[in-house]
Amino acid sequence: MDSTQELEKSYHFDLYRRLPVTLVKGKGIYVWDAQGDKYIDFLSGIAVNALGHSHPAVVRAIRKQSQKLIHTSNIYYTVPQARLAKLLCGLSGYERAFFCNSGLEANEAAIKLARKIGNQKGKKGPIVSFSGAFHGRSIASITMGSEKLRKGFDPLPDGFLQLPYNDIQSIEKNLNKDTTAVFVEAVQGEGGVIPADKEFIVTLRQLCDTHDILLIFDEIQTGFGRTGHLFGYMNFGIKPDIITVAKALGGGFPIGAVLTSNEISQGFTYGDHGTTFGGNPLACSVAESVVSTIINKELIENARQQGLYLKSKLERVSKKLPLVKEIRGMGLMVGVELKIPCRPIILKMLERGFLVNCTAENVIRLLPPLIVRKRDIDSLVKNFYRVLSSEKTKS
Ligand SMILES: Cc1ncc(COP(=O)(O)O)c(C=O)c1O
Repeated sequence: MDSTQELEKSYHFDLYRRLPVTLVKGKGIYVWDAQGDKYIDFLSGIAVNALGHSHPAVVRAIRKQSQKLIHTSNIYYTVPQARLAKLLCGLSGYERAFFCNSGLEANEAAIKLARKIGNQKGKKGPIVSFSGAFHGRSIASITMGSEKLRKGFDPLPDGFLQLPYNDIQSIEKNLNKDTTAVFVEAVQGEGGVIPADKEFIVTLRQLCDTHDILLIFDEIQTGFGRTGHLFGYMNFGIKPDIITVAKALGGGFPIGAVLTSNEISQGFTYGDHGTTFGGNPLACSVAESVVSTIINKELIENARQQGLYLKSKLERVSKKLPLVKEIRGMGLMVGVELKIPCRPIILKMLERGFLVNCTAENVIRLLPPLIVRKRDIDSLVKNFYRVLSSEKTKS
């Protein structure tokens, strides 16, 4: 344990099951630890560092804007906030943006907006979410999330209902004109990298139209190119009423947003919602540079192509790896489900110089930055094969 780890163990809440490494520096797809060892980052801060680490566009935006204006209040207009709202609306086809600081805050704003509109329409029914979902860690968003997140936090708020994910019969049975809204992820990230079925999403859209229910896509992990499209919902040929975004939007600088139509945004009036830091000039200026770089450098196309390459390489080696149960995902959001718990595997990958993640206990989650190259993938797959084949020999 190094001195940083000792300090942390003494003074920080004991909340994170940290890996035994202290990261001090990053550049592109690489990060370095305090001993100077180099790692290839196949996690990107959990789908955040879309441009990799210390991208010149991000560094420049921080430098330029921090010399002008870092923060003021939402009582005033600021140039970066107005510019970012225009950029996001122009790209997405939505008409209004609200800015906050994180994914959870974006979901909280969407929950409140849905409730306000539901109240206006006289709806008394729940906000629906799906088993295995992750929408953040506030009391409302854990109520929409998986059982594991909710345990020990009773009493939880009323007015939420959870249905099985990808189960068409269940949504047909349970959604009705009283239902307020539905929250869904295009690919459940924390739930184990589980993509939604197209038929399920198309039916969901139809049911929401029939019963005047707000369809809300949580694009916090899937947004900004991660799945090979600008947003995850675009894989299904439908359009949600509201989307929530964060993570990659700031490329590492905290920012979240809600995007929706003009009409739906008017569910809120003055004083209904707000934030001190949300949409501050520094965060918005960084986000503008991140999103523009993703578009201008054609990184969504790179995500699509490299995602296909990563999956096909993993599928090829997995034929010789009996411990692999399934490989799934979309774009650069790839999960490898193992027949064994994956923490020991990710520790071995760390020793070999790779940051990869374990989710849902036995799913190795790969979320490289959108700038990932074939040679990074080749190197990852080679090491993954070596680690897993040595496990096989032992078991
Ligand atoms: C799908 C999804 N929604 C919401 C969140 C919460 O975002 P944050 O941690 O920024 O509050 C996450 C974070 O992992 C997420 O993956």
